[in-house]
Amino acid sequence: MGRLIVVSNRTPSPRERTQPAGGLTVGLRDAVRGVDSMWFGWSGNQVDDVKGQKVDKDTVDGVTYATIDMTPAQYEGFYQNFSNGLLWPLCHYRMGMLSFRRADWDAYLEVNRMFAEHLTPLLRPDDVIWVHDYHLFPLGQMLRDAGVMCRIGFFLHIPFPPWSVSRALPIADELLHEMTAYDLVGVQTEEDAINLDGCFAACGVQVKARAFAIGIDPDGFLEQAETAVKSHDGRTLRESLHGRKLILGVDRLDYSKGLPERMLGYAQLLKRYPEHLGKVTFLQIAPVSRGGVATYQQLRQQLEELVGRINGEYASYEWTPIRYLTSPVARTTLAGFHRIADVGLVTPLRDGMNLVAKEYVAAQDPKDPGSLVLSHFAGAAPELPDALLVNPYDADDTADALHLALTMPLPERKRRWHGMRDEVWKHTAATWARDFLEALHALPSPHDREPEH
Ligand code: ADP
Ligand code: G6P
Repeated sequence: MGRLIVVSNRTPSPRERTQPAGGLTVGLRDAVRGVDSMWFGWSGNQVDDVKGQKVDKDTVDGVTYATIDMTPAQYEGFYQNFSNGLLWPLCHYRMGMLSFRRADWDAYLEVNRMFAEHLTPLLRPDDVIWVHDYHLFPLGQMLRDAGVMCRIGFFLHIPFPPWSVSRALPIADELLHEMTAYDLVGVQTEEDAINLDGCFAACGVQVKARAFAIGIDPDGFLEQAETAVKSHDGRTLRESLHGRKLILGVDRLDYSKGLPERMLGYAQLLKRYPEHLGKVTFLQIAPVSRGGVATYQQLRQQLEELVGRINGEYASYEWTPIRYLTSPVARTTLAGFHRIADVGLVTPLRDGMNLVAKEYVAAQDPKDPGSLVLSHFAGAAPELPDALLVNPYDADDTADALHLALTMPLPERKRRWHGMRDEVWKHTAATWARDFLEALHALPSPHDREPEH
């Protein structure tokens, strides 16, 4: 059997303790562990000249990480503007945030072409290629144009909106047509598959999307959580609470995560249920993400004002309602924080899956599990009906759910947690990758197909 070639814009930093936050690298890293594989993507570096650049290779634990650089202009046009200033808001149903410029589309195509040019010479005929996420929609077609005959699958980690929304993208038709190059197209949920199929149908594209729900490595995360509660950071956090209950939020600083709405929901809890004043602490860890994109800068400013205002209004001289951090925290430490937290608060306005919700469940102590408050609009919601499901746009709904979570008797917490636990252990990163790759292998190989006339 050939190698698995994973391609994504963001790649993990295999030699560093603190990894970039993001579900793609976390889920995939758990999935490729121990598999004969190469992971191709962007190095994270910008250099002035990429002409004639060599692919940088580093093999760690059997996985070869092969990376290339980008120029500052490519970073701006491809990554900041087109991928994250246009495709990201569009796929998260945020029409008012779109800004389309043809020059950015050119940069997007240029970087995809650069990926194809550098990847093609590294390939062997029996490799299986798995392309990931919205940065690389056209890559499959570019690899085909370069003569690559391997099986190529594509997986979209973020939601996909219906045609009535996605047609706002001026190049939607072209992008959807390029996806015929893939042997298999996967998305996170049935809703995304229906939406994408509707778009394919509207454009006359003969492709069908299939849903494969991504998960985590629950055993590994639980082990980290058990160790981390006893670590210095875990003990220090617990001591700092002075017996107060802990509500925890962990997200990239991204407008899709519903952070201002979450703060308002928490403020509403303090207003409507004053018995929690001084008895609860909300820790929000939100490392800065895509900090060069204007909409992300505005969000950061908005959050800083909001957190300051809520703290000012409700704090006492010896209690601060919200602790807010924008610097990254090591994954091992985070696992312990999840275990310590009485409530996991995960309220995206729209999310492909949301691994944080699954991590919270995995980290709990079965003897005394906490409660998960989860948005209906996370891809994980249909899988986790035992969570306290909320509409994040409704601050009172969030406040009621938080109150319920903070006061829930142990037997009810255990019952709900067992339901969620079964689901998190059933759909893992490993089963997700296995199911996708088995489906890809089950299709006829491009080598065996009739040539097109
Ligand atoms: P997204 O992919 O949109 O960032 P997910 O919830 O699916 O959202 O995945 C986020 C991943 O990044 C999770 O595995 C989470 O633990 C990790 N992560 C989120 N915030 C942090 C943080 N502050 N520090 C370290 N890792 C983080
Ligand atoms: C989401 C996307 C990933 C992306 C990650 C972090 O999980 O689906 O493709 O890598 O966010 O974002 P960044 O822009 O830092 O790569």
